[in-house]
Formats: sequence, C-alpha cells, structure tokens
Amino acid sequence: MTQSLTIARPDDWHLHLRDGAMLVAVLPETARHFARAIIMPNLVPPVVTGAQAAAYRDRILAALPADMSFTPLMTLYLTEDTDPDDVAAAHASGLIKAVKLYPAGATTNSASGVANFENVRATLDRMAEIGLPLCVHGEVTDADIDIFDREAVFIDRVLDPIRKATPGLRVIMEHITTSNGVDYVKSNATDLGATITTHHLIINRNHLLVGGIKPHYYCLPVAKREEHRLALRAAATSGDARFFLGTDSAPHMDALKEHACGCAGCFTATNTMALLAHVFEEDGALDQLEAFASQNGPAFYGLPTNSDTITLTKSEAPTIFPSKIDAGDDTVTVFDPGFPVHWDVT
Ligand code: DOR
Ligand code: ZN
Repeated sequence: MTQSLTIARPDDWHLHLRDGAMLVAVLPETARHFARAIIMPNLVPPVVTGAQAAAYRDRILAALPADMSFTPLMTLYLTEDTDPDDVAAAHASGLIKAVKLYPAGATTNSASGVANFENVRATLDRMAEIGLPLCVHGEVTDADIDIFDREAVFIDRVLDPIRKATPGLRVIMEHITTSNGVDYVKSNATDLGATITTHHLIINRNHLLVGGIKPHYYCLPVAKREEHRLALRAAATSGDARFFLGTDSAPHMDALKEHACGCAGCFTATNTMALLAHVFEEDGALDQLEAFASQNGPAFYGLPTNSDTITLTKSEAPTIFPSKIDAGDDTVTVFDPGFPVHWDVT
C-alpha cells in the first residue's frame, strides 16, 4: 500500500526562527519542505525597524545551508514608538510583508508590545493605506480574564474595534484556537484571514493536562477544549481561502520547556507536512491540503503560489521522526502527535 500526493511546495505563514545557534539548528528543518515563511520578529531585543529586519534577514540567509533555498518574508514588531514612515519605507523596498502586533505581555518576548492601541493608530492607518497586512497575536492579557477565554475576549474588545476604526486594514488572526476565531473570520468576508497551526489541529487541552502535564504541548494561545479543535479542523480542511497554514513552530531549549516555569511553544517544523497529511486524510480532505498549505496563504498576501512541488507518500510502516534536534548546547523536542503517522515528504 503506497499512496502519494504531489502538491505545490508549501509556505509557512507564521514561523519562529530565533537567532544564533538556534537559528542554525532550526532553519534547515523548515527549508527542507517550505519555500517561504513569515518570520516572527520577537527576538530579544525585538525586530522593530526596517534596518533591524534587513540585518535579521541577512543572518537568516547566512545560516541557510548552501544546498537549500528558502525565502524569509520579514515582519516588523509593532511598538507604541513605531515610526509609520520607517514601516512604509520597509514595505516599499519589498523588505517586509507584514507587521506583527503582540499585546504587551501576551506571550514569549512580548514585553515591548502594545498596551495603548491609540498609540499605534497612525501606523495602522498608514498600513491600511499602503496595503501592508497586520499579523495579530489575538489574546487579551488582563489578569481577570481566564486564559482559555483570552482569544474570544480579544476579538470583541480589541480586534473588532481596531478593524472598525481602520477600514481597509488587512488582518491575519494568527494561530486561531477557538470556534469564535473561526466564526469571526467567516463573518467578515474581506480583509481578514487566519492562520492555523498543525498542533492545534491535533491536541486539545486534555492532551496538555490529563495524566500529567506535558510541557511540549504548552503553547500560546493554549490549546482549548475539543469542540474548538474540531472547529479548527473543519476550517482548515474546508478549502475556504481565508484559512491557511502558519505553524507557529516555536523552538525552545528543552531545559526551558521542562522547567518549573516552562516556555510556551511547540516545535513542529520537522514533521508538520506529514502530520497535516495525516489530519487531512483522517477528515477525508486530502484534496484540500494544497489549498491550506500552499495556495491560500500566498493568495492572501498577493504572492504567487510556488512553482515547484513536494510529494507526500504514505507507507505501511510508520514514519520515524527524530524526537529531538540538537541546538547549541541543548536539544529541542520535536512535536509528538501521540499517534503513528505513515506519511512523509519524499
Ligand atoms: O507558543 C508560543 N510561542 N506562542 C507565541 O505566541 C510565541 C511563541 C514563541 O515565541 O515561543
Ligand atoms: Zn508565534
């Protein structure tokens, strides 16, 4: 029994590559299968200016093995001090493809994010004018809002008001984790898309917490209850052009994941395409995998679909993925779906 599927080479519309030794370790894991990726700017310090993004792009290209090709699509980290002219210049030169909004304190390295949205109004207006999309980490950070409700509350209290106040702003709700996110995207026909991660199609909050806490399943936004996972599965496999792959593959050293205060992030770059083939096959939707992973994202960003292809093959024997990859002095654990996967990129 061998089954195979050839699709346009996929892109990753939300990726953390980090810097230094970690960048060197994780970049090949993505570049092996993906042609392009939207590169998250949450370094320490964050990538705020066009000059910083250009320098980071050069470090990524310098870390790329000579026999691989990969195009990093750079983003800027939105702060209350962001200069709209700098953003517009970075966009006009083709350097950046989006600006990233982290509410202050929402997640890893988000301390420089936005607390007062009035202070980013001029930048958002300029982005709407020039057609530069805003990638949004959609969680409120208020201490009195339960962590499992933070996405739903963000949509009502922050995202909807921003979109109403900034007509024409193209927004990507990143790594949606709830049926509320799915419904919001569907209710707004234009200017709004969403990325969905591989791991949120596979785990719910029980996988994270039942039978012992699983630090490698902890990410932000945190996995929600099963009905939300099923809503994400339905959206991803539907072919609806507003939903596309953004893995949010987010490497952390194992010592910092398996820790009393463990970091948020699932590292899925290595096995994402094989896992997606499994998920889409399970839902009888293998014919929609190419839309989700290779077509809908570039269409939203106004870019061409990649002209080369990858082939996914299903074999009788389960695929063996490395459980960890080496990174500097430590290791990074590869996301384990918890079931055998028979697909691989060949
Ligand atoms: O789980 C996450 N990890 N969510 C984020 O938003 C950030 C990311 C990271 O940078 O580690
Ligand atoms: Zn992320």
